[in-house]
Amino acid sequence: MKLDVVLGLQWGDEGKGKVVDVLTPNYRVISRFQGGPNAGHSLKFNNLSYVLHTVPSGIFRDESINIIGNGVVIDPVILAEEIESIEKENIDVKKKLLISKKAHLIIPTHRIIDAASEASKGKTKIGSTLKGIGPTYTDKIGRIGLRVGDLLDIDFKEKYNNLKKHHQRLLKQYDFEYDITEYERRWFEAIEKLREFQFIESEHLINKYLNEDVAVLAEGAQGSMLDIDFGTYPYVTSSNTVCAGACTGLGVAPGRIGEVFGIFKAYCTRVGSGPFPTELHDETGELLAEIGREFGSTTGRKRRCGWLDLVALKYAVMINGVTKLIMMKTDVLNTMETIKAAIAYKIKGVETTEFPYEHEAEIEPVYKEFKGWNCDICNIQNYDDFPAELKEYIEFIEKETGIPIWIVSVGADRKATIFRQ
Ligand code: IMO
Ligand code: MG
Repeated sequence: MKLDVVLGLQWGDEGKGKVVDVLTPNYRVISRFQGGPNAGHSLKFNNLSYVLHTVPSGIFRDESINIIGNGVVIDPVILAEEIESIEKENIDVKKKLLISKKAHLIIPTHRIIDAASEASKGKTKIGSTLKGIGPTYTDKIGRIGLRVGDLLDIDFKEKYNNLKKHHQRLLKQYDFEYDITEYERRWFEAIEKLREFQFIESEHLINKYLNEDVAVLAEGAQGSMLDIDFGTYPYVTSSNTVCAGACTGLGVAPGRIGEVFGIFKAYCTRVGSGPFPTELHDETGELLAEIGREFGSTTGRKRRCGWLDLVALKYAVMINGVTKLIMMKTDVLNTMETIKAAIAYKIKGVETTEFPYEHEAEIEPVYKEFKGWNCDICNIQNYDDFPAELKEYIEFIEKETGIPIWIVSVGADRKATIFRQ
């Protein structure tokens, strides 16, 4: 069996939670391979709404096994809170959730460094979610990080204190006041809770499952345009959000990757700073934000909105080797008279269809216009019943990217999901 991967192709918040939830009946195992509590994956079913940050989105399905892989960074406080809220739904999380010993721990001072570093950047701040993601990956690469497996060592407290002292020394360079007493108390309470969970060597287990023909799905966080290598650096997150990240974040060989499901919104959003060529600073942008309820599920910040960017989308399709596309929030465009999609960029008068290195330069999108469908599509159950204008939009995207759109989402609920043959 091969490992199928679900990932976001834009700047995050594409609807990964919903898609994983919809696909889980086909998979026994769901695994997260990178990122951490900067993610906010929303699920909606049986009139319930959930936002997951660290736990894989398969947790609510019967019989599913959910793995937090080695590539993920974990804040015990956030994870323990998440587990408690899921347990309230009578789900046996202890049985269904497995955590890699190699996943790194976000400690309270990582969060402070994140905040101090952002505050010191002024206008050039990244717009981080301030969950300590960047500093934790920095320590991982710097080979001084703490891992879940360290929680089992008798000298854990000493290791923790050494890292904390190192952080306190770093923090002296910033003029930043902080007090971690309360968060640290909760942190130590939370690791007691986590110690009741199964810590595993997830690479062995996942490869064993694949060898036994058990279906495994890898759930990406953030989006390709936030990837540390291929995103709009430095306005990115600190992990490889692209498909290759599933190999390093789970210990699965490249040749074992199967389907790569690339998720995108029918338009575009971005939260935080950084380039966004098709951003709209007008009424249409406001309308997209309002109809699409574009507020961050992790930080509550308002998301920037704009038209679909096919230059960036094609780039993401290439880097990830996407095999099937999934289009989300299509219904948000229901009332638009005209819909636009960028098919090229004009940079200093020169047109290009390749996503450029100089993305901070003035980019002028070259748009193709589409007639809107101007009707409610939320209750449509078959592709054939879609209005002609919507079919035209879908088929154009398929032609540009060379990849079929397999699923079209027309609403937040599990049921508002159209599969195409
Ligand atoms: P999901 O998984 C959208 C953005 C932040 C910031 C930048 C760096 O829900 O799609 P970080 O906290 O990672 O250091 O922030 O990345 N960002 C996200 N934007 N969705 C996310 O996750 C994000 N995770 C990080 O806003 O611009
Ligand atoms: Mg999100």
